[in-house]
Amino acid sequence: MATILSVSGSPSASSRTSRLLRHLDKRLAAQGHHVIPLDVRTIPAEALLGADFRHPAIVQTTELFARADGVVIGTPVYKASYSGVLKALLDLLPQYALTGKTVLPLATGGSVAHVLAIDYALRPVLSSMGADHIVQGWFTLDQHLTAHEDGSLTVAPDASEALDQVVDQFSAALDRTPLLAVAG
Ligand SMILES: Cc1cc2nc3c(=O)[nH]c(=O)nc-3n(C[C@H](O)[C@H](O)[C@H](O)COP(=O)(O)O)c2cc1C
Repeated sequence: MATILSVSGSPSASSRTSRLLRHLDKRLAAQGHHVIPLDVRTIPAEALLGADFRHPAIVQTTELFARADGVVIGTPVYKASYSGVLKALLDLLPQYALTGKTVLPLATGGSVAHVLAIDYALRPVLSSMGADHIVQGWFTLDQHLTAHEDGSLTVAPDASEALDQVVDQFSAALDRTPLLAVAG
């Protein structure tokens, strides 16, 4: 069983990206993984924007990254790139916070014109942070995600099939990787 940190990088309170990650978390949990959800928007703004490396929330988040075998990084595409709050968090993590980890990059966006944002914007940063293996990511159009009042999410069939596939590839990659997570 791998420990997976599932990070949503949307600042939105009604984020589709966050709902998508929580939806996919269930599939990973059903495959036997221990999934820890993290919404970057819940980290105090003064810590993120004040670059307060010693803030307890940043220290705790850094530990969550250190203990994870795998990390799901989900972001909305904003201005053709990943979100500013996700960047603010990544900037506060150690340079090689992803060393030895398997990473699944995901994005949601409003236009297929930015389907490559994962590969030209997010993937290089994850790579520079030492990610051991960045598996195939996936961009989901926001119109394929329907949020419900109870907090649940319906994913359009075409998108759902592709997402299940990348999640299963990520899960299989974790199963092949010696686990690094520290107990406790
Ligand atoms: C400030 C802002 C900028 C955006 N820029 C883009 C963009 O450049 N390309 C794109 O495809 N979608 C863009 N979108 C649409 C969002 O990526 C899309 O609706 C996404 O699913 C929102 O996710 P969220 O609900 O988790 O924040 C933008 C939305 C906002 C609010």
